[in-house]
Amino acid sequence: MDSITNFDSLIDGFLLNTIGISEHFLTEDLSQSLSLTLKDLYKKDKLVAAKIGNNKEESLQIKIRTDKIFWLDKNHDNASENAFLKLMDSFVLYLNQTCYTGITGYEFHFAMYEAGSFYKKHFDQFKSNASRQYTMIFYLNPDWELKDGGELCIYHKNGSTQNISPTNGKGVFFKSADLEHEVLLSNAKRMSITGWLKIG
Ligand code: OGA
Ligand code: NI
Repeated sequence: MDSITNFDSLIDGFLLNTIGISEHFLTEDLSQSLSLTLKDLYKKDKLVAAKIGNNKEESLQIKIRTDKIFWLDKNHDNASENAFLKLMDSFVLYLNQTCYTGITGYEFHFAMYEAGSFYKKHFDQFKSNASRQYTMIFYLNPDWELKDGGELCIYHKNGSTQNISPTNGKGVFFKSADLEHEVLLSNAKRMSITGWLKIG
């Protein structure tokens, strides 16, 4: 599938169902090179414990989320990071042109959930800062099995829930302020990129 088709499947799904899901948003090659980059960062101990909002209390953080992260940056001169960010540049351009969203920036991080990790129910938009407009998540798990758990659980406003398995190359797209969600207990190493499209 070409990237415009993938972009449309995320955007159409979002417009119809408040969440867009594209099963193979990332090519096999790109997900593989990104997962190798993430594994290498993990081995070299470059990942840091993720934080929630502006909260500085570590014990509280650990009760809410236990993943480890690393922010992507063009200045890293890493080929896989740059290929991914280039894809995001074209997605943002397409989204702004087709939906008049006025996105002016983004931020993305790798995330590693070791076995036993989770991220409790939350919204992605900070109360103190509304710049995060859209959440995007991409999964880098080639051999994911049902027993590995780690589903993204979406709490829809009508009370229904939707579980999304973090299978390889899948992309997810929703409005950060609208959908409460949770990462269920993962029984295996769970790798992803999560990020936000921003205004202002
Ligand atoms: C987050 C988040 C979901 C996922 O990082 O805010 O909710 O499926 N991630 O990794
Ligand atoms: Ni989230």
